Amino acid sequence: MARITAGVGSSHVPLLGVAVDQHKTRDDYFGPIFAGYDWTREWEQRVKPDVVILVYNDHATAFDASIIPTFAIGCGERYPPADEGFGPRPVPTVEGHPDLAWHIAQSLILDEFDMTIINEMAVDHGLTVPLSMMFGQPGAWPAKVIPLAVNVVTYPVPTGNRCWMLGEAIARAVASFPEDLNVQIWGTGGMSHQLQGPRAGLLNQAWDNRFMDALIGDGDDARWIDHIEYIRETGTEGIEMVMWLIMRGALGSRTRCLHRHYHIPCSNTAIGHLVLEPLAGYVKGMTGGELGW
Ligand SMILES: [Fe+2]
Repeated sequence: MARITAGVGSSHVPLLGVAVDQHKTRDDYFGPIFAGYDWTREWEQRVKPDVVILVYNDHATAFDASIIPTFAIGCGERYPPADEGFGPRPVPTVEGHPDLAWHIAQSLILDEFDMTIINEMAVDHGLTVPLSMMFGQPGAWPAKVIPLAVNVVTYPVPTGNRCWMLGEAIARAVASFPEDLNVQIWGTGGMSHQLQGPRAGLLNQAWDNRFMDALIGDGDDARWIDHIEYIRETGTEGIEMVMWLIMRGALGSRTRCLHRHYHIPCSNTAIGHLVLEPLAGYVKGMTGGELGW
């Protein structure tokens, strides 16, 4: 059967895509940021995921005020990189996995998560930057990708607990897919950042690191952090961190940290990165409980 073998958390700052595309990843400014992903790029080449469920948010690129899906899953064959104002990034087209994606969509909807199904869309930096950070600059992305878009741009956005429960439902969906597939789930966005107003440039290193601490081991306190705490402590755009909780919820009751990186500043944000492994765990509602990890 398919199984989720790892979770990856990462910021998806657009400037990192510019650094990759303009070959500046080893200069004085970007060098320390990208060095924190070296371990992960080597690890990804070793563990070779078949499919990545990539949790991200669209930044008014594929969606706008005319339609605001809270949770959307990409069930299409492929997704071109979006033009965000400077032309599409020079990265490969993202190849989907329609069979697994439709299976997950059906499982989630029957599990009472009302997903929006997307068959055609362009994907912006929220999705392509994490691929560049984890896979470098290959001629084709080495894994199929199932985009899972979350509305964190327009209120009301989903609660952390709802995101965690969606992750648990995704784990149940993947575990019921009969084909042997090595599946990773990535949660992207954050860390602390505020892009406008008097608090623009706000960074909160201590809070960001407490958040990453909370995703390691068997605690689940992070699911109960309310929206006002994210905004007060990490800025208006820090709310993107709820997307990491979908990744964490999908890993079961206990995780081990394989790799961790944090750096400030990058553009006007903080960079956070975690690689987590699920340990013999329990996902709520799964038949038999134990996942057998
Ligand atoms: Fe973002």
